[in-house]
Amino acid sequence: MPEKINRKPRVLSGMRPTGKLHLGHLVGALDNWVRLQHQYDCFFFVADWHALTSDYADTAAIKSNIIEMLFDWLAAGLDPEIATIFIQSHVPAHAELHLLLSMITPLGWLERVPTYKEQRDNIKEKDLGTYGFLGYPVLQSADIMMYKGDYVPVGEDQVPHVEITREIARRFNMFYSGNRKPVFPEPQPLLTPMPKLPGTDGRKMSKSYGNAILLSDPEPVVRQKLKTMVTDPARVRRSDPGNPHVCPVYSLHKIFSDQSTIERVEVGCTTAGIGCIECKGWAADALVQILNPLQERRRKYEENPRLVWDILEAGSGRARKVAEATMHDAREAMNLSRDYEPPRNEATAGK
Ligand code: TRP
Ligand code: SF4
Repeated sequence: MPEKINRKPRVLSGMRPTGKLHLGHLVGALDNWVRLQHQYDCFFFVADWHALTSDYADTAAIKSNIIEMLFDWLAAGLDPEIATIFIQSHVPAHAELHLLLSMITPLGWLERVPTYKEQRDNIKEKDLGTYGFLGYPVLQSADIMMYKGDYVPVGEDQVPHVEITREIARRFNMFYSGNRKPVFPEPQPLLTPMPKLPGTDGRKMSKSYGNAILLSDPEPVVRQKLKTMVTDPARVRRSDPGNPHVCPVYSLHKIFSDQSTIERVEVGCTTAGIGCIECKGWAADALVQILNPLQERRRKYEENPRLVWDILEAGSGRARKVAEATMHDAREAMNLSRDYEPPRNEATAGK
């Protein structure tokens, strides 16, 4: 397999297609992916089957969610000439590997994944008592193992999923690799340091809270959202000194503003030298400056969404080739290869 000679270490990560992305996705994942693509052989994919594990009842929006998300990936600077960008469901081998891995995954491992019980109990509007939802980590393991990924850039919340992938890979190798080289490497999480990013209401930025600043928000919308953002609740009047360390606007400054602005905010806020309106204006300036180049890159795809689909098709084709090679190894290890072998007679076996 010539592609494996001296290959760069491989990185794989995915995102469920939730539609338009926000600043949290940028600082928590995309910025990192963009950096990684220059250093590693990167595979980034749309986990549309994973979206179905919870949103199975109504799939009407799935395609537009995929395209919207891709606008944001490309806007953030993911380069389809460098990284392989694809759709999980367009590489059907993920389903085959998922099935094979499901055979060797003990139920207890799945029931113990922290997000499993928590989400099953907390998300009331959907019935998550399904076979598919329990198998979420098995599908994710198949995603990762398919590309023999060395590193998986993820946030803290996804580390248990990478851990279970390691366990499943180890179990597969134990059963089926014999004395040969293990079929699957054990992947490592590449923990993305996630700055605490508050939304406009001060809670963690999240689409479902309706407090997010989207990567596609035009400047007036960004400024408007900042205007209504909560501040230090104790700073009621302009003349009251504030405490930036309890203020979500200050958290945005710390992530997005330059050092001198951060200092001006600290001094100005604690001495009542600046008002919140001014301070929020500076935060909006920083965001607009970051979002401008993204929105510039985004335009060409928005004008011609077909380009996005072509990128995904080309990437999925590349991914299918790698996946087919892995499945060849996996099937062979499990004695499921498509090569003919004469039946073995018990009596003469081993002779
Ligand atoms: N579970 C991940 C999330 O919700 C998405 C995902 C699916 C993923 N398959 C993956 C991430 C493989 C990394 C590797 O964010
Ligand atoms: Fe927050 Fe800025 Fe107002 Fe201080 S001045 S409370 S940091 S918005």
